Amino acid sequence: MMGRLPFIAGNWKMNKTVEEACELVRQMKLAIAGAEGVGVAIAPPFTALYAVRKELEGSAICLAAQNLFWEEKGAYTGEVSPGMLKGVGCEYVIIGHSERRQFFGETDETVNRRMKAALGPGLKPIFCVGETLREREEGKTFPVIERQVEGGLRGLGEKEMKSIVVAYEPVWAIGTGKTATPQQAEEVHRFIRERIERIYSRQIAEEVRIQYGGSVTPENIKGLMIQKDIDGALVGGASLKSETFSKIVRFKEM
Ligand code: 13P
Repeated sequence: MMGRLPFIAGNWKMNKTVEEACELVRQMKLAIAGAEGVGVAIAPPFTALYAVRKELEGSAICLAAQNLFWEEKGAYTGEVSPGMLKGVGCEYVIIGHSERRQFFGETDETVNRRMKAALGPGLKPIFCVGETLREREEGKTFPVIERQVEGGLRGLGEKEMKSIVVAYEPVWAIGTGKTATPQQAEEVHRFIRERIERIYSRQIAEEVRIQYGGSVTPENIKGLMIQKDIDGALVGGASLKSETFSKIVRFKEM
């Protein structure tokens, strides 16, 4: 069986104007050029997607969105549909990020609706799960992850699962500078893979890419990537600078 291709994605969150975004992409294209054996995506804010897509022409970097709504069109002021993201050139879409769950009331059920809606027009979800500090301290990490994985994937078949990337992002490690140790991350990644095997099949579980997210830096990426079940990273803060993001993408060369 072919190994899983590492996948590094930058989640820019609510950062960068159109102009700043284009400038950053121009720098990244140069800094990442020639990096081999790794897939790369960036997720700028909605407002910059079109301009960034233009900048990315001829580059291997894929475009991702940070969220979507499940309806295709209509009276949903402020929302963006799957077809709109497809139309602007997105290949991936982040779904169920912990900031959406924490600040915007996302639940496993709404995450699941978004997953289904994304897959319809062929967008590939980057499906985020992760426990809070309190849940970890109370020993609830595994049940929480299990609930999120099962809830988010409800009703999705094997074929759909092949388009999904999972991102494990412990909430306590996001933006805190407090990365999970490679062992802490690996333990949860293995657990997620086992759940996926149980829901689908051994083959699907072996193929699915599971990214780690939470204070990933050029300094800690290598230790994470050598873990058996860690297949990439979803990078926040360090994806806002070409220098740090390209070092993460080039982890094999370090
Ligand atoms: P940081 O890398 O800034 O901790 O953010 C991680 C994240 O939430 C990526 O989606």
